[in-house]
Amino acid sequence: MTAEVRHTVVDLRGDLRTGAQRAVVMTMGALHDGHAELVRQARRMVGETGTVIVTVFVNPTQFSAGEDFDAYPRTLDDDVVVASEAGADVVFAPNAVEVYGLTGGFEPTSVTIDPGPLGDVLEGASRPGHFRGVLTVVSKLMGMTYPDVALFGEKDYQQLTLIRRMVADLSMPVEVVGVPTVREADGLARSSRNRYLSPEERRVAAVIPQALAAAAQQSDPQEAVETGLRILSREPGIDVDYLVVTDLDLGPAPRIGDARVLVAARVGTTRLIDNQPMRVGS
Ligand code: PAF
Repeated sequence: MTAEVRHTVVDLRGDLRTGAQRAVVMTMGALHDGHAELVRQARRMVGETGTVIVTVFVNPTQFSAGEDFDAYPRTLDDDVVVASEAGADVVFAPNAVEVYGLTGGFEPTSVTIDPGPLGDVLEGASRPGHFRGVLTVVSKLMGMTYPDVALFGEKDYQQLTLIRRMVADLSMPVEVVGVPTVREADGLARSSRNRYLSPEERRVAAVIPQALAAAAQQSDPQEAVETGLRILSREPGIDVDYLVVTDLDLGPAPRIGDARVLVAARVGTTRLIDNQPMRVGS
């Protein structure tokens, strides 16, 4: 069945049946199989009687000047097909005035969500204000869709970590579920931005998950970083921003236990991020 498409909160409210479980998958559109997997999992979680909502909104407040806000792919008709086939009931695609009022998000609003210090490291270090924009729009979209559960991809691990923290710190009544990254056959993490890559850049980009996988096989954080960087350095087309090992909350790597290895790199003008679980000390 084709999902209903709603553009306003007033129209959406009619789809929010009381008593039924509701799951939301928030996206900026350009849906790919990674998003489809989130929708399929959402459907499994709420069952046939529940409601699965996919939001499609390219959020201006999470882009800095000079980033790809204007160029970001806008493919709503295709997105409705992908969302429907994966099991969504509703696609909520508001415009910027619906989400932010008359400023459309292009002028600062007075109340925003402060991500705290974790918003300034890793992705936040090279994208100032990014996570304030993400958390603010995620909380607004939660207020519009009233979900019982919200699903986010682990590919954006820092985003997922900050959303979990926001929900806990602000006592928001929603369960946040992280879904493992969906990958291309050669390991590249699915991302809407992969479509910016030329065929040659696409070939080069496949080295990133190889380096990450080799790093994640190490048991010592320092060796993991050195292994990953060594592999990346062999490919001149990759400009590394960071490759780090952290604990599961993005703090310092544990002496022993579960950890995460995260990488960000530029291939041509496209910034790619990826991460994998790793085990330290065993
Ligand atoms: O991950 C994304 O696509 C976006 O950051 C999100 C969560 C939809 C907020 O705009």
